Amino acid sequence: MNRVNKFVAALVLMPVLALNNMLSAQTNQSMENKVNTIFNQLTLEQKIGQMTQIASTNGDEVPQYVIDAIKEGRVGSILNAGTPKAIEKIQKIVAKESPNKIPLIIGRDVIHGYKTIFPIPLGQAASWNRKLVETGANIAGKEAYDEGINWTFAPMIDISRDPRWGRIAESLGEDPYLTAELGTAMVVGFQGNELSSEKGRIAACAKHFIGYGATENGKDYNAVSIPDYQLWNTYLPPFKAALDAGVGTFMTAFNDINGIPASANQFLLKEVLREKWNFDGFVVSDWESMSQMINQGYSENLRDVALQSASAQLDMEMVSSAYQKHLKELVESGEIDIEIVNTAVKNILRVKVALGLFEQEYNGVPKDTEILSATHKAEAKKMAIESLVLLKNENILPLKIKNQKIGIVGPLADAPAEQVGTWSLDAVIDEVVTPFNAFQEAFGDQIVFAQGLENARSNKTDQIQATVDAMKGVKDVIVFAGEDAILSGEGHSRAFINLPGAQEALIDALAEADKNIILVVQAGRPLTLGTIEDKVNAILYAWHPGTMGGPAILDVITGKVTPSGKLPVTFPRTLGQVPIYYSSIESGRPANPQMLGIPTGTPLDPVGLTNNYLDVSVTPAYAFGYGLSYTSFSISKPKLSNTELVKGEKISVTVEVKNTGKYEGAEVVQLYIHDKVASYMRPKLELKGFEKVYLAPGESKKVTFEIGDDQLSFFDKNGNVLLEKGKFEIFVGNASDNLASEIITLKDIK
Ligand code: BGC
Repeated sequence: MNRVNKFVAALVLMPVLALNNMLSAQTNQSMENKVNTIFNQLTLEQKIGQMTQIASTNGDEVPQYVIDAIKEGRVGSILNAGTPKAIEKIQKIVAKESPNKIPLIIGRDVIHGYKTIFPIPLGQAASWNRKLVETGANIAGKEAYDEGINWTFAPMIDISRDPRWGRIAESLGEDPYLTAELGTAMVVGFQGNELSSEKGRIAACAKHFIGYGATENGKDYNAVSIPDYQLWNTYLPPFKAALDAGVGTFMTAFNDINGIPASANQFLLKEVLREKWNFDGFVVSDWESMSQMINQGYSENLRDVALQSASAQLDMEMVSSAYQKHLKELVESGEIDIEIVNTAVKNILRVKVALGLFEQEYNGVPKDTEILSATHKAEAKKMAIESLVLLKNENILPLKIKNQKIGIVGPLADAPAEQVGTWSLDAVIDEVVTPFNAFQEAFGDQIVFAQGLENARSNKTDQIQATVDAMKGVKDVIVFAGEDAILSGEGHSRAFINLPGAQEALIDALAEADKNIILVVQAGRPLTLGTIEDKVNAILYAWHPGTMGGPAILDVITGKVTPSGKLPVTFPRTLGQVPIYYSSIESGRPANPQMLGIPTGTPLDPVGLTNNYLDVSVTPAYAFGYGLSYTSFSISKPKLSNTELVKGEKISVTVEVKNTGKYEGAEVVQLYIHDKVASYMRPKLELKGFEKVYLAPGESKKVTFEIGDDQLSFFDKNGNVLLEKGKFEIFVGNASDNLASEIITLKDIK
C-alpha cells in the first residue's frame, strides 16, 4: 500500500470520534500556526496595539483619531464603529494602510436583538425556553454581522438578586442554573458550537467577570463582597458553562470583589480563568474599568493600572489608555514579563483567526440581508409571547372581545421607544408594533384609547379624570403601565421599585369607576405593585417586550395563545424584603410562612422569635418559577428509579404532566434539590433541571430528569467539588413554591 492508501485505510478503520479529534487537532494546529505567523511580525508597540480597543462614534464618518490609530498600528479592536459605511472604510484603511493588515475586531452591544429587538434578557429568561433564546441570539448576531459587527458584548450572566439594580433587566435573573442554561443558549446562538468563520456568526462575550450583580445596595458600580463558597456555587457556574460552550471572550466587571477590582484580580483572571479553566480566548476590560481603579483607590495612576491589569493577564483594554501609555515601559523595565504581552496578543489573534476575519472583506451591507425580515419578526413575536408571565387572573383572561368597546389606557400602550427597553442601540423605532397598534388593527373602532399620563414617570394627574371620562360605557380596560426604558439598564438603579409617577393614581381612578382592569406591566425589573394588585382583575407581566411586543400581548390577552412564562426572579412584596430569592439558606429558627406579620403591640414571645418580619410576610409576592396559564396542568408525584445511589450512579425522576384544562398550553416542569446536611449549609432549594412541555387539552407527557454527581455536588470555598453522602430531598413541580418531594440517599462515597 502506498502512503496515501495507507492513510485512507486508516481513516476508514478509525472510529468516528477519533477521526473528529484528529481533524480538530489538525485544525487547531493550523490555526495556531497562523496565529504564530502573524504574531511573529509584530513589534512590541504593535502587540500593545492589538491589546487596545478604542471607541469610535456613530455615523458614516470615521474620526481622525481612529484613522491615525489604525495607520499607526495602535489599535486591535473598535467598539461602536458606526454605520456599515464607516465600518467598510475602517476595514479598508486596515487592509491598505495599517502596518500589519490585521483586521480589527468590531464590537458592539447587541444585547437582545440588533434591529429586530427581542424582549430584554430578563424577559427572555421568563420563557424558560432554551431554543427560543438561542434563536434570538442567532438572529441578533446575523443582523449585526450583516452590518460589519464581529463581536457582541453578550450574554450578561451576572446573577442578580436585587431589583433596585438597573442592570437586572439585562440579566437572566437570580438563579445560577437557569442563567447557565440560557446564557449557554445565547453563546451558541451567536457563535454556533464554537467560534467560526461561518457567515452570520459573531463572537460572544461572557460578562461581567464577576459579581457585578451583587452590587451593594443595588446601586450601579458599587462595591461587591462575596464569600468564596458563594462565589464558587452561585456566581462562577454560569461563566464556567459559557466557557464550556466555547465562548470566545470574557469581560471583566467594574466592581471589586472583596477589595480587589475585577480588572486586576489575579485570583479570578489567572488562577480561575486561565489555570483552572484553561480559557484560551481573550479577556477585555469593561469601559474604562481599568482606569477607574484610580477612583476606586486601588491604583495611584495609569502606570499602576497597566501594571496591575497586565499582571492579572487582562488581555485587552476597553477605551482607557493605560496599556497604550505605559505597557511598553513596563515591559522594558522588566516589571511586566514580555510573555504576558505575547500570550495576550496570541489570545486576541486566536479569536480573530477563528472568526475568519483575515479572509473576510467587508463591503457594506449585503443586498440579501434579512434585517427586520418577516421571519425575524415572527421569531421576536414568539419569544415575546413566551416571555409574558400571567401573575393574576380573576376569570377575565382570555378576554372575550365580541362587539363591546375595549379601553386601551396608559403611558406604555403606545410608546414604541419604551417598549424596546434598555440596550436597544440599533432598534428601528418605526418598526415597533405597540399594543395600541395591534389592538387597533384587530378591533378598529371598538378601541377607546387614552394615554392617561404623558409618560410612566409623570406625576401630573391632570389627564386622569379625562381618561376616566373617556372610558364611559367601556367595561374592560387594559392598562399599560410600568417603567419607561430609561428607568432600568446601566447606571439606572432605583431606590423604590413601585410603579413610578402617577400610575397608581390612574389605576385607582379606573378602579373607582368600577372598570374591569387588565394590568399589563412593561418594566425592566420586578416591581412591587402593593395595593394595586387587589384593584385589578388580571396582571400580565410583559417586561420590555421588544419590536413585536404589541402583537404578542394581543394574542395572549385574546386567548389566541396561552401564556406560559415563569418568573426567573422572585418578586418581593415590598422593598424591605430585598434581597429575596428562592435559594436562600434555612435559618436556625425557620420562619412560619403563614405568619403575615405580627400585630403591633404583641409582646415578644416565642411566636415572634423566628425568622419573620413584624410587618410583612416572609413570602414573596410571586415566587421564582411562578406563572399562571389559561389551562390547568397536573403533575404526578415524582417517581424515582431508585432511592439510593453511590457516586457515579444516576437516579431518574419521572413525572407525568397532563393538560387538564380547555386550552392548548405549555407547562415548565421544574426540578429542585435540597442537600439536607452538608459541610456547608446548602440552599433550601436549588434548581437542577427544567423542561417546557407543550400539551393539547387532555394530552399528557412523561418528563424524566437524571440525578447524579453533577446535581448532588457543590463547591467548597476553594473551588473543590464536594460530593457528600447523606439524604437529599428531590422536588418537582411548576413553581419554587408548588412542589412535591421525595427523599434519596447518596451512600458510601470513598
Ligand atoms: C458596560 C458593558 C458594555 C460596555 C461597552 C459598559 O459600560 O458595562 O456591559 O458591554 O459598556 O459598551
